[in-house]
Amino acid sequence: MAATRNSTFDDPFYQPADEFFAANSKIGLTFDDITLATLYSEILPRDTQLDTQLAENLRLHIPIISADMDTVTESRMAIAMALNGGLGLIHYNMPERQQLSEVSRVKNHVHGLIQEPIKVSPEQLIGDVLALIEQKKFGFSTFPVVDGKGKLVGLLSGHVVKPRYAGKKISEALTPRAQVHTITKKELGRDPIARADKFFTEHIGIHKLLVVDDDDHLHGLITMSDVERITQERKAQFKPARDAHHHLICGAAVSATRNAFGELDRERILTHVGALVERGVDVIAVSTAHGHSKGVGDTVKVLRDAFPKLPLIAGNVTSAAGVEFLADCGANAIKVGQGPGSICTTRIVAGVGIPQMTALYVCSRAAVKRKVTVLADGGITKSGDIVKALTLSQAVICGGIFAGCNEAPGDVVEISGKLYKEYRGMGSLAAMKAGSAARYGHEKNPALKVAPEGVEALKEACGSVDRVLAQLIGGIQSGMGYLGAANLTQLYDKARYIRVSPAGQREAAPHDVVELKTGN
Ligand code: XMP
Repeated sequence: MAATRNSTFDDPFYQPADEFFAANSKIGLTFDDITLATLYSEILPRDTQLDTQLAENLRLHIPIISADMDTVTESRMAIAMALNGGLGLIHYNMPERQQLSEVSRVKNHVHGLIQEPIKVSPEQLIGDVLALIEQKKFGFSTFPVVDGKGKLVGLLSGHVVKPRYAGKKISEALTPRAQVHTITKKELGRDPIARADKFFTEHIGIHKLLVVDDDDHLHGLITMSDVERITQERKAQFKPARDAHHHLICGAAVSATRNAFGELDRERILTHVGALVERGVDVIAVSTAHGHSKGVGDTVKVLRDAFPKLPLIAGNVTSAAGVEFLADCGANAIKVGQGPGSICTTRIVAGVGIPQMTALYVCSRAAVKRKVTVLADGGITKSGDIVKALTLSQAVICGGIFAGCNEAPGDVVEISGKLYKEYRGMGSLAAMKAGSAARYGHEKNPALKVAPEGVEALKEACGSVDRVLAQLIGGIQSGMGYLGAANLTQLYDKARYIRVSPAGQREAAPHDVVELKTGN
């Protein structure tokens, strides 16, 4: 019979986690320092399952989270992440009220429903609309027409938005309200896409459906092309991550806020998190650079007492003691990573932090004992890093990989013909001035004396999150296929490691060729 089990010849070389990291306990290892050995497999990459349970009430369909950073995750990113089965953590470098509305945007997102369609008023001229289309580079020319109170008056069809009618008023050209097809939010029900799909089938030639409330105020627009695209996507393997009420899931970060006397501001933290919970937030992340500290522990305890069932993420730590501390305070998932991030300078500035694979190993062992999960936070630059991280954690948190995406906050800038987006560390001076100083244990308005622990940088614009995630997921599934792992638990259990020499690292990347196209 053909050998499908490990050979004893392999064992001294390709070791399971406990043996491998114990044998390398005197050196801090990160992703590129190791590689995973392949194993006999009957698993095709496309058949692998990527579901992950981060807490009793928090399950993702892909183990990827976008970082709570002000150049990475606001509602647009969180929506895109959840639609792909992952999670976005809304950052806290914004006024509390704004964070509440960012969370609401995610929780109220109806896939395919344009919640704030561009509207025009009956008094405007067709020429004004043409100018608007030109100025904003809209790829569409049909607009709902509303009065000053937001009530639907009609629909301005693309057929009449022509230069020959430029001098005409919209009120003369619109399709009147009585002839416009509408549906109420209530009628859309639990599956708005299926409802809209049925509507478009029943109404030949109608491509737009307007959503109104009982008083005929406009609340959104559904287009047939969006519905068709989404219906197609539904056949995808990874379903959106939703709560029990079918809303997309969303996380929000908070810090260990202090009052004017330097004490933990329990009341403010509780009021704010209470408001986030009212808006439907699914998980709170107590995000700081040093999670193994009294302020973070107390914040987690306060939140655990007040919200016994709310999933809590806390961090960051790189030691077993740190994991045990945060778990004992009531956290469900622990962020592991100090200084691996692409914009981090903590190791340079403060001289602390642990290379990520060693940190993950040490923390993962404590996490298993305390029945909490581990989130590998920072330093991930390629899908292979994620596969390695998932052998010791339940999900990864990524900043840099998503910062160049369309859905990340901020504008695209052009430099020498290339397109970029800003990406900055939350410990950079600019981010701390904008509010994140508490995360690094500094005063709210850091004077120049404060040593920043992050840089301000640029990432090349890289298109949509869907595209980036498709590449990452493909890589993870491929890695799982090589290890014969049908799901993430099997990946965790089966992984065997070996160290890589500097020559081995060079060998791992394209070499001795003139590269015409990069891998992505
Ligand atoms: P990547 O490598 O994905 O890392 O860009 C994102 C993670 O980096 C952490 N982070 C920082 N760490 N100084 C630091 O030392 C900073 O200014 C900073 N900002 C973010 C954070 O954990 C994030 O998820």
